[in-house]
Amino acid sequence: MGTILGIESSCDETAAALVTSDRRILAQHIASQDDAHRPYGGVVPEIAARAHSERLAPLIEATLNDAGLDLSEVDAIAATAGPGLIGGVMVGLVTAKALAMAGGKPLYAINHLEGHALSPRLADVSLRFPYALLLVSGGHCQILRVEGVGRYKRFATTIDDALGEAFDKTAKLLGLGFPGGPQVERVARQGNPRAVPLPRPLVGSGEPHFSFAGLKSAVLRAKESGKYADADLAASFQQAAIDCVTDRLRLALETMDEVTALVVAGGVAANAGVRAALECVAGEFGLPFSAPPPALCTDNAAMIAWAALERFAPGLSDPLDISARPRWPLDPTAEPARGAGVKA
Ligand code: KG4
Ligand code: ZN
Repeated sequence: MGTILGIESSCDETAAALVTSDRRILAQHIASQDDAHRPYGGVVPEIAARAHSERLAPLIEATLNDAGLDLSEVDAIAATAGPGLIGGVMVGLVTAKALAMAGGKPLYAINHLEGHALSPRLADVSLRFPYALLLVSGGHCQILRVEGVGRYKRFATTIDDALGEAFDKTAKLLGLGFPGGPQVERVARQGNPRAVPLPRPLVGSGEPHFSFAGLKSAVLRAKESGKYADADLAASFQQAAIDCVTDRLRLALETMDEVTALVVAGGVAANAGVRAALECVAGEFGLPFSAPPPALCTDNAAMIAWAALERFAPGLSDPLDISARPRWPLDPTAEPARGAGVKA
Protein backbone atom coordinates (compact mmCIF):
# COMPACT_ATOMS: atom_id res chain seq x y z
CA MET A 1 0.00 0.00 0.00
CA GLY A 2 1.25 3.46 -0.84
CA THR A 3 -0.07 7.01 -0.71
CA ILE A 4 1.15 9.58 -3.19
CA LEU A 5 0.76 13.36 -3.23
CA GLY A 6 0.12 14.49 -6.81
CA ILE A 7 0.56 18.04 -8.12
CA GLU A 8 -0.80 19.42 -11.41
CA SER A 9 0.04 22.87 -12.81
CA SER A 10 0.63 22.46 -16.56
CA CYS A 11 -2.17 24.71 -17.80
CA ASP A 12 -4.78 26.75 -15.93
CA GLU A 13 -5.77 24.42 -13.09
CA THR A 14 -3.71 24.34 -9.90
CA ALA A 15 -4.39 20.98 -8.28
CA ALA A 16 -3.20 18.68 -5.51
CA ALA A 17 -4.46 15.21 -4.58
CA LEU A 18 -3.66 12.32 -2.28
CA VAL A 19 -4.29 8.92 -3.84
CA THR A 20 -3.66 5.42 -2.49
CA SER A 21 -2.50 2.37 -4.43
CA ASP A 22 -5.90 0.77 -3.78
CA ARG A 23 -7.48 3.57 -5.86
CA ARG A 24 -8.87 5.78 -3.11
CA ILE A 25 -8.70 9.54 -3.61
CA LEU A 26 -8.21 10.58 0.02
CA ALA A 27 -8.51 14.30 -0.72
CA GLN A 28 -8.12 16.67 -3.64
CA HIS A 29 -8.33 20.35 -4.44
CA ILE A 30 -8.56 21.99 -7.86
CA ALA A 31 -8.30 25.77 -8.15
CA SER A 32 -9.46 26.95 -11.53
CA GLN A 33 -8.02 30.17 -12.96
CA ASP A 34 -10.95 30.76 -15.31
CA ASP A 35 -11.71 34.21 -13.89
CA ALA A 36 -8.13 35.39 -14.36
CA HIS A 37 -7.99 34.31 -18.02
CA ARG A 38 -11.60 35.07 -19.04
CA PRO A 39 -10.93 38.70 -20.09
CA TYR A 40 -8.37 37.41 -22.63
CA GLY A 41 -10.53 34.56 -23.99
CA GLY A 42 -7.73 32.03 -23.45
CA VAL A 43 -4.96 31.03 -21.07
CA VAL A 44 -2.23 33.66 -20.62
CA PRO A 45 0.96 31.76 -19.66
CA GLU A 46 2.46 34.48 -17.42
CA ILE A 47 -0.79 34.94 -15.49
CA ALA A 48 -1.08 31.15 -15.14
CA ALA A 49 2.45 30.75 -13.76
CA ARG A 50 1.93 33.51 -11.19
CA ALA A 51 -1.40 32.06 -10.10
CA HIS A 52 0.11 28.59 -9.67
CA SER A 53 2.92 29.94 -7.49
CA GLU A 54 0.46 31.85 -5.28
CA ARG A 55 -2.01 29.00 -4.87
CA LEU A 56 -0.08 25.76 -4.85
CA ALA A 57 1.38 25.73 -1.30
CA PRO A 58 -1.93 26.48 0.50
CA LEU A 59 -3.67 23.98 -1.77
CA ILE A 60 -1.24 21.19 -0.82
CA GLU A 61 -1.69 22.07 2.85
CA ALA A 62 -5.48 21.96 2.53
CA THR A 63 -5.30 18.58 0.77
CA LEU A 64 -3.13 17.09 3.53
CA ASN A 65 -5.44 18.57 6.19
CA ASP A 66 -8.56 17.15 4.52
CA ALA A 67 -7.01 13.69 4.48
CA GLY A 68 -5.77 14.09 8.06
CA LEU A 69 -2.25 13.24 6.93
CA ASP A 70 1.14 14.70 7.70
CA LEU A 71 3.65 14.95 4.86
CA SER A 72 5.76 12.34 6.67
CA GLU A 73 2.94 9.80 6.10
CA VAL A 74 3.05 10.26 2.32
CA ASP A 75 5.17 7.70 0.44
CA ALA A 76 6.16 9.76 -2.60
CA ILE A 77 5.64 13.11 -4.34
CA ALA A 78 4.52 13.37 -7.97
CA ALA A 79 4.15 16.38 -10.24
CA THR A 80 3.46 17.03 -13.90
CA ALA A 81 6.84 17.67 -15.55
CA GLY A 82 5.44 18.40 -19.03
CA PRO A 83 4.15 18.89 -21.63
CA GLY A 84 2.47 22.20 -20.93
CA LEU A 85 3.04 25.89 -20.26
CA ILE A 86 6.59 25.77 -18.98
CA GLY A 87 6.25 28.45 -16.26
CA GLY A 88 3.41 26.61 -14.59
CA VAL A 89 5.05 23.21 -15.00
CA MET A 90 8.19 24.53 -13.30
CA VAL A 91 6.19 25.84 -10.32
CA GLY A 92 4.68 22.39 -9.71
CA LEU A 93 7.85 20.42 -10.37
CA VAL A 94 10.07 22.64 -8.19
CA THR A 95 7.54 22.40 -5.36
CA ALA A 96 7.50 18.62 -5.69
CA LYS A 97 11.29 18.47 -5.69
CA ALA A 98 11.46 20.60 -2.53
CA LEU A 99 8.93 18.39 -0.74
CA ALA A 100 10.67 15.22 -1.91
CA MET A 101 14.07 16.49 -0.82
CA ALA A 102 12.86 17.80 2.57
CA GLY A 103 10.97 14.61 3.36
CA GLY A 104 13.46 12.17 1.84
CA LYS A 105 10.71 10.81 -0.47
CA PRO A 106 10.97 9.53 -4.03
CA LEU A 107 10.02 12.01 -6.76
CA TYR A 108 7.87 11.10 -9.77
CA ALA A 109 8.11 13.52 -12.71
CA ILE A 110 4.95 12.65 -14.62
CA ASN A 111 4.07 13.20 -18.27
CA HIS A 112 0.71 15.00 -18.15
CA LEU A 113 -0.47 12.97 -21.14
CA GLU A 114 0.41 9.77 -19.31
CA GLY A 115 -1.72 11.10 -16.43
CA HIS A 116 -4.67 11.35 -18.81
CA ALA A 117 -3.83 8.04 -20.52
CA LEU A 118 -3.77 6.04 -17.27
CA SER A 119 -6.60 7.94 -15.50
CA PRO A 120 -9.23 5.44 -16.72
CA ARG A 121 -7.47 2.74 -14.66
CA LEU A 122 -7.90 4.83 -11.51
CA ALA A 123 -11.66 4.83 -12.06
CA ASP A 124 -12.07 1.35 -13.57
CA VAL A 125 -10.41 -1.44 -11.61
CA SER A 126 -11.19 -3.98 -14.36
CA LEU A 127 -9.42 -2.08 -17.15
CA ARG A 128 -6.40 -4.05 -18.38
CA PHE A 129 -3.62 -3.31 -20.86
CA PRO A 130 -3.56 -3.11 -23.84
CA TYR A 131 -6.42 -0.71 -24.57
CA ALA A 132 -7.29 1.67 -27.38
CA LEU A 133 -7.34 5.25 -26.15
CA LEU A 134 -8.79 8.40 -27.63
CA LEU A 135 -6.98 11.21 -25.80
CA VAL A 136 -8.83 14.47 -26.41
CA SER A 137 -7.82 17.60 -24.51
CA GLY A 138 -7.14 21.27 -25.09
CA GLY A 139 -3.72 20.63 -26.59
CA HIS A 140 -3.93 17.07 -27.90
CA CYS A 141 -6.05 14.80 -30.06
CA GLN A 142 -4.56 11.36 -30.42
CA ILE A 143 -5.47 7.73 -30.83
CA LEU A 144 -3.07 5.47 -28.95
CA ARG A 145 -2.65 1.82 -28.13
CA VAL A 146 -1.82 1.87 -24.43
CA GLU A 147 0.33 -1.24 -24.04
CA GLY A 148 1.57 -0.70 -20.49
CA VAL A 149 2.97 1.96 -18.20
CA GLY A 150 5.31 4.08 -20.35
CA ARG A 151 4.44 2.06 -23.48
CA TYR A 152 2.29 3.92 -25.98
CA LYS A 153 1.87 3.41 -29.70
CA ARG A 154 0.38 6.41 -31.46
CA PHE A 155 -1.97 5.70 -34.37
CA ALA A 156 -3.22 9.21 -35.03
CA THR A 157 -2.77 12.83 -34.10
CA THR A 158 -4.11 16.15 -35.32
CA ILE A 159 -2.56 17.96 -38.26
CA ASP A 160 -3.81 21.31 -36.93
CA ASP A 161 -6.08 22.04 -33.93
CA ALA A 162 -6.75 19.73 -31.00
CA LEU A 163 -10.40 18.82 -30.40
CA GLY A 164 -10.67 20.83 -27.17
CA GLU A 165 -9.11 23.79 -28.97
CA ALA A 166 -11.80 23.52 -31.66
CA PHE A 167 -14.51 23.54 -28.97
CA ASP A 168 -12.85 26.56 -27.29
CA LYS A 169 -12.51 28.50 -30.56
CA THR A 170 -16.09 27.71 -31.55
CA ALA A 171 -17.27 28.94 -28.14
CA LYS A 172 -15.28 32.13 -28.59
CA LEU A 173 -16.70 32.93 -32.01
CA LEU A 174 -20.23 32.21 -30.76
CA GLY A 175 -19.54 34.54 -27.82
CA LEU A 176 -20.12 31.72 -25.32
CA GLY A 177 -17.24 32.57 -23.02
CA PHE A 178 -14.33 30.69 -21.55
CA PRO A 179 -13.61 27.81 -21.07
CA GLY A 180 -15.51 26.91 -24.16
CA GLY A 181 -16.07 23.15 -24.27
CA PRO A 182 -18.67 22.90 -21.49
CA GLN A 183 -20.45 26.02 -22.87
CA VAL A 184 -20.71 24.57 -26.38
CA GLU A 185 -22.08 21.34 -24.92
CA ARG A 186 -24.65 23.24 -22.84
CA VAL A 187 -25.88 25.41 -25.72
CA ALA A 188 -25.81 22.49 -28.18
CA ARG A 189 -28.45 20.70 -26.09
CA GLN A 190 -31.01 23.29 -27.27
CA GLY A 191 -29.99 23.08 -30.95
CA ASN A 192 -30.51 20.91 -34.02
CA PRO A 193 -27.30 19.01 -34.92
CA ARG A 194 -28.40 18.80 -38.60
CA ALA A 195 -29.37 22.47 -39.00
CA VAL A 196 -26.07 23.79 -40.31
CA PRO A 197 -24.20 22.05 -43.14
CA LEU A 198 -20.61 21.76 -41.93
CA PRO A 199 -17.60 19.85 -43.33
CA ARG A 200 -16.15 16.70 -41.73
CA PRO A 201 -12.41 17.20 -42.44
CA LEU A 202 -10.44 14.04 -43.34
CA VAL A 203 -13.48 11.76 -42.94
CA GLY A 204 -12.98 8.84 -45.31
CA SER A 205 -9.24 9.48 -45.77
CA GLY A 206 -6.89 6.50 -45.53
CA GLU A 207 -4.78 7.82 -42.67
CA PRO A 208 -6.48 8.03 -39.28
CA HIS A 209 -5.30 11.59 -38.47
CA PHE A 210 -7.55 14.47 -37.39
CA SER A 211 -8.08 18.01 -38.67
CA PHE A 212 -10.41 20.57 -37.10
CA ALA A 213 -9.19 23.93 -38.47
CA GLY A 214 -11.51 23.82 -41.51
CA LEU A 215 -14.49 22.93 -39.34
CA LYS A 216 -13.87 25.91 -37.09
CA SER A 217 -13.59 28.26 -40.12
CA ALA A 218 -16.84 26.84 -41.51
CA VAL A 219 -18.59 27.60 -38.20
CA LEU A 220 -17.27 31.16 -38.45
CA ARG A 221 -18.63 31.57 -42.01
CA ALA A 222 -21.99 30.09 -40.99
CA LYS A 223 -22.17 32.45 -38.03
CA GLU A 224 -21.31 35.44 -40.23
CA SER A 225 -24.03 34.48 -42.72
CA GLY A 226 -26.55 35.39 -40.00
CA LYS A 227 -28.76 32.48 -41.12
CA TYR A 228 -28.44 30.25 -38.06
CA ALA A 229 -29.24 30.32 -34.36
CA ASP A 230 -26.27 29.91 -32.02
CA ALA A 231 -27.76 26.73 -30.50
CA ASP A 232 -27.96 25.18 -34.00
CA LEU A 233 -24.40 26.26 -34.75
CA ALA A 234 -23.14 24.73 -31.49
CA ALA A 235 -25.11 21.50 -31.99
CA SER A 236 -24.02 21.16 -35.63
CA PHE A 237 -20.39 21.84 -34.73
CA GLN A 238 -20.48 19.23 -31.96
CA GLN A 239 -22.08 16.68 -34.29
CA ALA A 240 -19.51 17.32 -37.03
CA ALA A 241 -16.69 16.96 -34.49
CA ILE A 242 -18.18 13.70 -33.20
CA ASP A 243 -18.56 12.38 -36.76
CA CYS A 244 -14.87 13.13 -37.42
CA VAL A 245 -13.77 11.43 -34.22
CA THR A 246 -15.85 8.27 -34.72
CA ASP A 247 -14.77 7.90 -38.37
CA ARG A 248 -11.06 8.26 -37.49
CA LEU A 249 -11.42 5.91 -34.55
CA ARG A 250 -13.09 3.19 -36.63
CA LEU A 251 -10.20 3.34 -39.09
CA ALA A 252 -7.60 3.12 -36.31
CA LEU A 253 -9.39 0.22 -34.60
CA GLU A 254 -9.47 -1.73 -37.85
CA THR A 255 -5.67 -1.74 -38.02
CA MET A 256 -4.88 -1.98 -34.31
CA ASP A 257 -3.75 -5.27 -32.75
CA GLU A 258 -6.12 -6.75 -30.23
CA VAL A 259 -7.18 -4.53 -27.32
CA THR A 260 -9.25 -5.16 -24.18
CA ALA A 261 -11.38 -1.99 -24.38
CA LEU A 262 -12.03 1.34 -26.03
CA VAL A 263 -11.21 4.14 -23.64
CA VAL A 264 -11.53 7.92 -23.76
CA ALA A 265 -9.66 10.42 -21.59
CA GLY A 266 -8.80 14.14 -21.47
CA GLY A 267 -11.02 17.20 -21.00
CA VAL A 268 -13.26 16.62 -24.04
CA ALA A 269 -14.06 13.16 -22.66
CA ALA A 270 -16.29 15.03 -20.19
CA ASN A 271 -18.68 15.72 -23.11
CA ALA A 272 -21.75 13.47 -22.89
CA GLY A 273 -22.32 13.49 -26.67
CA VAL A 274 -18.75 12.39 -27.33
CA ARG A 275 -19.00 9.65 -24.71
CA ALA A 276 -22.27 8.31 -26.11
CA ALA A 277 -20.90 8.20 -29.68
CA LEU A 278 -17.76 6.38 -28.55
CA GLU A 279 -19.79 3.84 -26.63
CA CYS A 280 -21.53 3.00 -29.93
CA VAL A 281 -18.20 2.57 -31.73
CA ALA A 282 -16.99 0.29 -28.94
CA GLY A 283 -20.17 -1.78 -29.38
CA GLU A 284 -19.55 -2.08 -33.15
CA PHE A 285 -16.12 -3.58 -32.40
CA GLY A 286 -17.41 -5.81 -29.58
CA LEU A 287 -15.30 -3.92 -27.03
CA PRO A 288 -16.18 -2.73 -23.55
CA PHE A 289 -16.17 1.08 -23.27
CA SER A 290 -14.48 2.86 -20.38
CA ALA A 291 -14.42 6.56 -19.55
CA PRO A 292 -13.39 8.17 -16.28
CA PRO A 293 -16.05 10.25 -14.49
CA PRO A 294 -16.07 13.80 -15.97
CA ALA A 295 -14.17 15.28 -13.00
CA LEU A 296 -11.25 12.93 -13.75
CA CYS A 297 -11.32 13.82 -17.48
CA THR A 298 -10.46 17.50 -17.11
CA ASP A 299 -7.11 18.42 -15.59
CA ASN A 300 -6.69 17.20 -12.02
CA ALA A 301 -3.93 16.01 -9.70
CA ALA A 302 -5.47 12.63 -8.85
CA MET A 303 -4.50 11.36 -12.31
CA ILE A 304 -0.92 12.57 -11.72
CA ALA A 305 -0.74 10.76 -8.37
CA TRP A 306 -2.25 7.67 -10.02
CA ALA A 307 0.29 7.68 -12.89
CA ALA A 308 2.98 7.80 -10.21
CA LEU A 309 1.34 4.90 -8.36
CA GLU A 310 1.49 2.89 -11.59
CA ARG A 311 5.25 3.58 -11.58
CA PHE A 312 5.61 3.12 -7.81
CA ALA A 313 5.56 -0.68 -7.64
CA PRO A 314 8.26 -1.13 -10.32
CA GLY A 315 10.25 1.65 -8.56
CA LEU A 316 10.41 3.93 -11.59
CA SER A 317 11.09 7.15 -9.63
CA ASP A 318 13.03 10.12 -11.04
CA PRO A 319 16.20 11.99 -10.00
CA LEU A 320 15.80 15.35 -8.23
CA ASP A 321 17.60 17.19 -11.05
CA ILE A 322 15.07 16.15 -13.71
CA SER A 323 13.98 19.04 -15.97
CA ALA A 324 10.55 20.30 -16.94
CA ARG A 325 9.69 19.61 -20.59
CA PRO A 326 7.44 21.90 -22.65
CA ARG A 327 7.03 19.10 -25.23
CA TRP A 328 6.98 15.40 -24.33
CA PRO A 329 5.29 13.01 -26.77
CA LEU A 330 3.94 9.74 -25.36
CA ASP A 331 5.24 7.85 -28.39
CA PRO A 332 8.60 9.40 -29.34
CA THR A 333 8.89 7.07 -32.34
CA ALA A 334 5.72 8.39 -34.02
CA GLU A 335 6.27 10.32 -37.22
CA PRO A 336 4.87 13.87 -37.29
CA ALA A 337 1.53 13.93 -39.11
CA ARG A 338 1.41 15.68 -42.47
CA GLY A 339 0.99 19.42 -41.92
CA ALA A 340 1.51 19.07 -38.18
CA GLY A 341 2.59 22.15 -36.31
CA VAL A 342 3.89 22.03 -32.77
CA LYS A 343 1.49 19.49 -31.31
CA ALA A 344 3.33 16.64 -29.56
O1 KG4 B 1 -7.52 17.83 -20.32
P1 KG4 B 1 -7.89 19.26 -20.15
O2 KG4 B 1 -8.59 19.68 -18.89
O3 KG4 B 1 -6.64 20.18 -20.29
C1 KG4 B 1 -5.62 19.93 -21.21
O4 KG4 B 1 -4.75 19.10 -20.91
O5 KG4 B 1 -5.71 20.54 -22.30
O6 KG4 B 1 -8.77 19.64 -21.42
C2 KG4 B 1 -9.30 20.93 -21.54
C3 KG4 B 1 -10.12 20.97 -22.80
C4 KG4 B 1 -10.60 22.38 -23.12
O7 KG4 B 1 -10.38 22.62 -24.49
C5 KG4 B 1 -12.08 22.31 -22.77
O8 KG4 B 1 -12.86 23.21 -23.52
C6 KG4 B 1 -12.39 20.87 -23.12
O9 KG4 B 1 -11.29 20.15 -22.65
N1 KG4 B 1 -13.62 20.42 -22.45
C7 KG4 B 1 -14.74 20.06 -23.10
C8 KG4 B 1 -15.71 19.79 -22.11
N2 KG4 B 1 -15.14 19.97 -20.88
C9 KG4 B 1 -13.84 20.36 -21.12
N3 KG4 B 1 -15.02 19.98 -24.41
C10 KG4 B 1 -16.26 19.59 -24.77
N4 KG4 B 1 -17.24 19.31 -23.88
C11 KG4 B 1 -17.01 19.39 -22.56
N5 KG4 B 1 -17.99 19.12 -21.68
ZN1 ZN C 1 -4.87 17.82 -19.62
